[in-house]
Amino acid sequence: MSRPIGVFDSGIGGLTVVRELQKLMPRENIVYFGDTARLPYGSKSDTLIRRYSLENALFLNSKLAKIIVIACNTASASSATFLQGILKLPVVGVVESGASVAARTTKNKRVGVIGTKSTVRSQAYSTCISRIDPTIRTFEVATPLLVHLVEENWVDRDITREILRDYLSPLIAKGVDALILGCTHYPLLKNAIHSVTDGITLIDSSKEIAYHVSNMMSEYGLLTNTEAPGTTSVYLSDETNDFANWSMKVLGRGITPDIVDHDRHVFSG
Ligand code: DGL
Repeated sequence: MSRPIGVFDSGIGGLTVVRELQKLMPRENIVYFGDTARLPYGSKSDTLIRRYSLENALFLNSKLAKIIVIACNTASASSATFLQGILKLPVVGVVESGASVAARTTKNKRVGVIGTKSTVRSQAYSTCISRIDPTIRTFEVATPLLVHLVEENWVDRDITREILRDYLSPLIAKGVDALILGCTHYPLLKNAIHSVTDGITLIDSSKEIAYHVSNMMSEYGLLTNTEAPGTTSVYLSDETNDFANWSMKVLGRGITPDIVDHDRHVFSG
């Protein structure tokens, strides 16, 4: 059996990344770890998020992952460089993928970013974008309520559009022409965001990271040569009532997750 692509997220939102990986590389096996016992990451310190990210990556390593994909924007912002420095596997973070597409997309060199408090505090998107093109100005806004609205499935309500208008007005006032959806949950709000951001190109980081991963796997010779359709296994660190609905909504089918005792797996193999 060919080794899987390892994907982790603070919870189940990262299935939006799995969906794009499956679409792009249907023959690849995927192993997903969602740290549902310890989410949300978005309000935690960098030190703690880095420790959790390392533990998640080691868990995926124990499942023989050939590449680690950090689907979580918050974990990617604080831990991608750290993990790239210490793991022997290639590590791809969602921030670098979104940043490079935003830099290519903006025409007026003004990019907006929405994400969790931690992602915005880290300024990882601004740093990454200015490394690519120092003439681009990046404006970041924390939008912590949006995760909850998506989890409640309030994606098509007037109140959600009202909250979006409020959150996005400073970015619209800055004249951004590209907006990075810097959180696993936000692709599911695309229609609502479109309806309040006329003329702004939305950058769906879950799509972009899938392209980035596929290019990197081809560069490193990691693409599978089997013909059979790939499988997806899901591990969570705690039970989540909504998982069946969520996987149906995002992946179009129900998956039964395995619940793992995170500490035992990471520290005793
Ligand atoms: N997965 C997180 C992200 O993409 C959102 C949820 C959380 O705060 O843990 O930033």
